[in-house]
Amino acid sequence: MTTPAKTNFIDTDLDKIASAEGRIAVLIAKDGKLNAGAKRVNKLTRGALARMIEGGALEDMKPGDVKSLAWPAGLKAEAVDILRITPRASAVEARKAGAALGKLLGEKGMTVLAASQVRAVDLMQGIALRAYSFTARKTGDQKALGDITMMVKDAGDIEDQATAARAVIDGTFFTRDLVSEPANHLTTTEFANRIKDMESLGLKVTVLEEDKLEELGMGCLLSVGQGSASPTKVAVMEWMGGTDGDAPLALVGKGVVFDTGGISIKPAAGMEDMTMDMGGAGVVAGVMRALALRKARANVVGLVGLVENMPSDRATRPGDVVTSMKGDTVEVINTDAEGRLVLADVMWYAQETYKPRAMIDLATLTGAIIVGLGHENAGVFSNDDALCGAFLKAAEAEGEGAWRMPMGQAYDDELKSQIADMKNVGGKAAGSVTAAQFLKRFVQEGTPWIHLDIAGVASVKSDTAYAPKGATGWGVMALNRLVADMIEEG
Ligand code: BES
Ligand code: MN
Ligand code: ZN
Repeated sequence: MTTPAKTNFIDTDLDKIASAEGRIAVLIAKDGKLNAGAKRVNKLTRGALARMIEGGALEDMKPGDVKSLAWPAGLKAEAVDILRITPRASAVEARKAGAALGKLLGEKGMTVLAASQVRAVDLMQGIALRAYSFTARKTGDQKALGDITMMVKDAGDIEDQATAARAVIDGTFFTRDLVSEPANHLTTTEFANRIKDMESLGLKVTVLEEDKLEELGMGCLLSVGQGSASPTKVAVMEWMGGTDGDAPLALVGKGVVFDTGGISIKPAAGMEDMTMDMGGAGVVAGVMRALALRKARANVVGLVGLVENMPSDRATRPGDVVTSMKGDTVEVINTDAEGRLVLADVMWYAQETYKPRAMIDLATLTGAIIVGLGHENAGVFSNDDALCGAFLKAAEAEGEGAWRMPMGQAYDDELKSQIADMKNVGGKAAGSVTAAQFLKRFVQEGTPWIHLDIAGVASVKSDTAYAPKGATGWGVMALNRLVADMIEEG
């Protein structure tokens, strides 16, 4: 897996600045006043910082902007990066500002003079999150990133907070790697193996194979994978770090390792992007990793349906009727509306097995959500205002865009079938909502539930606040926080 840059918090030692290698980051607020670290850098560089500021360098800088001085005389460092940030930045502001530094992190590392900053851990998190690149499928030596050294006031006091942040960074990188992997490498089997490897972190992992899924009656899920040579699997991760006997939160992910559309095949242009169609499962795995790494005091189960949607002589045909684990029958009008078939059975299994206190599913479910919300916000659908509110609050606090969408009977009516209990698609309109209505039919009475349509946010074609273009890991931070807010503190 792509390992995040190593991060250290040390007590400020101004005498180490002159000989620090790599880059030195100096934090400056709007007033342009130099803090102790900045003063030392200024002195060592014979007034370069002061001259920069007097020359007006700060004036056109917005919070989070960076200006660099390359190869400064008087320092061993290769550059001084001046970051504009207020000492009282919010967590999200500090992370976004950190991300601007993270872009610059190189082989020799970075020393951040952060003694004046209350959000030093968030600043670190932003730097580390942004310093990501997926190189597993490139040959040649890949340059390792140097350490991020945060010079702070009382390093010992923030070690716990730093450990929690490192867990989330690690979980996010795990998700990004999964989303970035091509489908010939990340097969259903390889995905299950990577999840199984997390047993070493204390997660209990079970992988259900096709014979078991058949026994359970998961006809919807199996109908999606039957055209592929890769076996369909369900991987179950349990983290029971909370109170014994407390009902867990269930996270359910769509793990379509490649979505050709099946017999209702997709157009060739852009089809390669469908390697990311396991993004929901990727986030679930990343959250479970983060929870295990930080030893969360919460009971959470993660379940992912791993499957490949291929056309073949054995593939499901449009018009086929399949039977779900719940017992309801589904007329498969369009084999490209496969994600909801995957989720229906895994959600039902999650509820039957764990009687969860709440259930959240994540899926790159519809192109329509991209039409509606673009790449800024995931679509949020819910049957429970309190749970939904708590999630939206967590997402906002983490700077991950999320926007609630409507649901209702009229949308559900779109799913009526002539010959089965329901169709797997509605009409042309409101495609994301009718998809959510389909899922809702597999939510049991009394289970608070959220569906997150992450088709627009799981992988994007330009840089985001926390990530270079490509896989974002959207949702790992928000869900990790929801667990902390709702279960650990709630
Ligand atoms: N995996 C796709 C949705 C998707 C589209 C994800 C673009 C990421 C980027 C999903 O399985 C799908 O094909 N949905 C169809 C549904 C339609 C057939 C009702 C869609 O959105 O076109
Ligand atoms: Mn599809
Ligand atoms: Zn899909």
